[in-house]
Amino acid sequence: MIDLLLGLQWGDEGKGKIVDVLTKDYDIIARFQGGPNAGHTLIFDGNKHVLHTIPSGIFHKTAINIVGNGVVIDPVIFKNELDNLSKYNIDFKTRLLISRKAHVILPTHRLLDAASEKSKGKAKIGSTLKGIGPTYMDKTGRNGFRIGDLDFANWKDKYRALTQKHLKMIDFYEVDLEFNLENLENEFFNAIEVLKTLTFIDSEEYINNAMANGKTILAEGAQGSLLDIDFGTYPFVTSSNTTAAGACTGLGVAPNKINEVFGIFKAYTTRVGSGPFPTELFDEDGKTMAKVGHEFGATTGRPRRCGWLDLVALKYAVQINGVTQLMMMKGDVLSGFDTLKVCTSYNYKGKEITHLPYNIEKENTSVNYINIKGWKEDLTQMTKANELPQNLNDYVAFIEKFVGVPVKIVSVGPDRKQTIIV
Ligand code: GDP
Ligand code: IMO
Ligand code: MG
Repeated sequence: MIDLLLGLQWGDEGKGKIVDVLTKDYDIIARFQGGPNAGHTLIFDGNKHVLHTIPSGIFHKTAINIVGNGVVIDPVIFKNELDNLSKYNIDFKTRLLISRKAHVILPTHRLLDAASEKSKGKAKIGSTLKGIGPTYMDKTGRNGFRIGDLDFANWKDKYRALTQKHLKMIDFYEVDLEFNLENLENEFFNAIEVLKTLTFIDSEEYINNAMANGKTILAEGAQGSLLDIDFGTYPFVTSSNTTAAGACTGLGVAPNKINEVFGIFKAYTTRVGSGPFPTELFDEDGKTMAKVGHEFGATTGRPRRCGWLDLVALKYAVQINGVTQLMMMKGDVLSGFDTLKVCTSYNYKGKEITHLPYNIEKENTSVNYINIKGWKEDLTQMTKANELPQNLNDYVAFIEKFVGVPVKIVSVGPDRKQTIIV
C-alpha cells in the first residue's frame, strides 16, 4: 500500500516538513512529479534545509528515497543538493534511487523557459524559470531526454540534437536573452558525472515489488492542487499533475494501491507567481501574514502573496484528490487576529456559487466570507492537542464540517517538533 501527501493550495503548504515528520513510519519516500521548481523546507536540531528534488525523507537513516519517473531533474541543481548534504554522511548510492524514466532538464530548457516568459510580458506565468514547462513539453512531445539515456555511449549526440533545436526555438521568441552556453554546458556535464555515480532503477518495478513485500511507501507531492496542469488555475499553473492521479502515473502504482491521502493546507492561503487568487489581501492583515509567516518562496525568494483561507478552493482540492485526512499548517501565524475570515462561496458573474469556476478573474469573481473568532495564544510551544485554544478548535471544526474530512495534524511552527496530532 502507498499513502500520498499532497498540497491542497498553491504550493508551499509545508509538505517537506510533514514528510520529514512522517518518514519514521515508512520504508520508502518517493517524489512523483515536478522538479526543482519545488522548495521543501525542513527544520530540526536548529538547522534549516531546503530540498528541491531530493525527497524529504533523506535525513532518516532508515528510509529509501526515490525520485520517480514523473519528476524532471536538473543535474546542476541536483548536484548542489547533494553537496549541501555532504556533511550528513548519507549513503546516496543505496538510499537515493533515481528512475531511469525521469526526464532531464537541459540548460536550454531553462533558457526556453526564460524566453517564453519574457515574450509573454505582463501575461507571464511567474514561472520559477527552472525549465519545468519546456522539459515536460519535450516529454509529452516525445522528444525528451531521460535519465536512462545516460547509460548509452552516444547520449551526447542526443543531447546536441535537442539543444540545437532549442536554440532555434529560442530565436523564434525574438527576445533579449543573454547567456553563455559553453559555461552552462560545462556546469551541466560536470553535474551529469556526479549524477552517474548514483543508482538508476526501474522505479515502477522497484516500488511494486516493495509493496508486494509489505513495505510502506509515502509519495511526496510537489506544488499544490491549484497549480495542477488540468485542475489548477490554468494557464497559471505548473506543467504536471500535482493531484493524486499524478502519483499513479509518476510512480507506476495502480489506483487501488492507494491507501491514505494526506491533504495539507495552510490555515490561510499563499501564492507565488501570477494568476487568480480570490481571497488575496492587500491590506495590513495580508502584510501581517506575510511577515509573521516569513512568506518568501523557498526556491526563488520571491514574496508570497497572502490571503484568507478559501474553503471553496479547499473543498475542490479535497474532492479531486480523494483526501482522507487533513493537516493544517501555520496555525501559529494567525495568533493575534481578533477575527478570522474564511471564504465559503464566490459571486461569479452575478450568481453565488460554491465550486471553482472555469475562469476566475477579478471582473467576474468576488468572495463571500464568514467571520470566525481568532485566538491570541502563542501556539509555538504547545505540544499536545488539549493545549490548543478553543477558538482554534472551533476554526478547525468549521473547516472539517465544510469539507467533510477530519484534521489529524495541526502544525504550530516550522520545526519538526512543533507538530500536534489531534
Ligand atoms: P512546501 O513546499 O510545501 O514543502 O513548503 P515550503 O517549505 O516551501 O514553505 C513552508 C514554509 O513554512 C517553510 O518556511 C516552513 O519552514 C514553514 N512552516 C511549515 N510549517 C509551519 C508552521 O506550522 N508554522 C510556521 N510558522 N511555519 C511553518
Ligand atoms: P512547492 O513544491 C509554490 C508556481 C510558480 C509559478 C507556477 C509555474 O515548493 O510547493 P513553474 O516553475 O512550474 O513553471 O511555475 O507555479 N510554483 C510554485 N509555487 N510552490 C511550488 O513548489 C511551486 N512550483 C511552481 O511560482 O506561479
Ligand atoms: Mg515550497
